[in-house]
Amino acid sequence: MTNKASIGVTGLAVMGRNLARNLARHGHTVALHNRSTERTRDLVERFGSEGTFLPTSSAREFVDALERPRQIVIMVKAGEPTDAVIEEFAPLLEPGDVLVDAGNAHFADTRRREAALRERGLHFVGTGVSGGEEGALHGPSIMPGGSKESYASLGPLFEDIAAKVDGTPCCTHVGPDGAGHFVKMVHNGIEYSDMQLIAESFDLLRGALGYEPAQIADVFRTWNTGRLDSYLIEITAEVLAHTDAETGRPFVDVVADQAEQKGTGRWTVQIGLDLGIPITGIAEATFARSLSGHTGLRAAAEGLAGPRRAPLSGAAAERFADDVERALYASKVVAYAQGFNQIQAGSAEYGWNVDLGAVASIWRGGCIIRAKFLDDIRAAYEAEPALPTLLTSGDFRKAVEDAQDSWRSVISTAVRLGIPTPGFSTALAYYDGLRAERLPAALVQGQRDYFGAHTYRRVDRAGTFHTEWATEGRPEHPA
Ligand code: 6PG
Repeated sequence: MTNKASIGVTGLAVMGRNLARNLARHGHTVALHNRSTERTRDLVERFGSEGTFLPTSSAREFVDALERPRQIVIMVKAGEPTDAVIEEFAPLLEPGDVLVDAGNAHFADTRRREAALRERGLHFVGTGVSGGEEGALHGPSIMPGGSKESYASLGPLFEDIAAKVDGTPCCTHVGPDGAGHFVKMVHNGIEYSDMQLIAESFDLLRGALGYEPAQIADVFRTWNTGRLDSYLIEITAEVLAHTDAETGRPFVDVVADQAEQKGTGRWTVQIGLDLGIPITGIAEATFARSLSGHTGLRAAAEGLAGPRRAPLSGAAAERFADDVERALYASKVVAYAQGFNQIQAGSAEYGWNVDLGAVASIWRGGCIIRAKFLDDIRAAYEAEPALPTLLTSGDFRKAVEDAQDSWRSVISTAVRLGIPTPGFSTALAYYDGLRAERLPAALVQGQRDYFGAHTYRRVDRAGTFHTEWATEGRPEHPA
């Protein structure tokens, strides 16, 4: 019996290399392939002792090195490079074999590819892999979509190498076709909003208390021992404590203040608009990154009228850091509630039947948004799978209730001092919008009917109506 590999990885840049190493370290024989064989050789030379690798130098040799059903993990750039690799391997595979795209592909591309390859008798699995290069090596959160049949052979391998929380792998079959990449996309959107809220907290503590980055690092370290315990809070303290070797200045002060983005947050907002889900936290975080990049516009606006930052004093200063912690937590609950609502909407739209509790469970470890908080989200959805929003779930509802004064006080302080807090502010506006008895949307309907005869519904009877605004007496009639 020749020594065949149970899985293969093609695309051996750092992410692909680390996934292959992780699989080999867990005792799986891993076939290796890369467009340039140099990378394949380099991996075996440097890490060959970590497990059993089968290096190959052609697509044919790579495919022949795999046991049935063949399972190939593609780790190349999203878009055309992924299509090219699919076309390179698909003709060499047999019915029942599995192609896995572990890059940050757009879920619509994954649905298209899955349908096309299903026609050819092949399984196509789009999977989110979160945790960066370190996560890929030591244990990522893995979000595979695709068919149940493919998960039967692929799942045990992925669960083996995924991060573990309380012994539970941070990997589950998210749902069919593009469900995995959709959930990874929303993960990245939530990541954007979480990062924005943390950045605004930093700006508030600096602008309203005059704290230096090192002091703020200490505040974040303290927060990381409580309900905000999370990877992003942890690394924020590290980044803020870091001093630039060359200048001796706080690292954060020598970094150009233009945030970049590879695009997954943007996708999340676009899909949120398509699905009609107000993911305002993710949208404001994405726009905040764009705004930061408009250096010319910002330079032109620099002299515009508005308050200057002046440190608080007395009792207000005393309680401000605690107020920011409560405001941050409440805003974070809103941002995650919106993200989970978007997954709910995507699942309904595409018939995926995604288990939100399971998604929260596999995000507890390995991924960028990993946090203690996700355990509470898991519990909330396990207790009530059809929960309309996290905001109405017991513990979250109480925490946000307790944060009301702090949340509103922090935002009014930000407004008074001219500190931009789009993330905090949109979270509160969304919260107040959700709980409002009547919204000014009624007036919007009247305006739309006036200028466009777009009709409206009434609160006191069924049907749709139009008022003849240009006619004497402005009669109303059923539309
Ligand atoms: C992850 C990350 C990762 C993301 C990069 C860059 O889950 O490991 O979310 O997938 O693509 O961190 O993201 P941006 O350039 O969009 O910030």
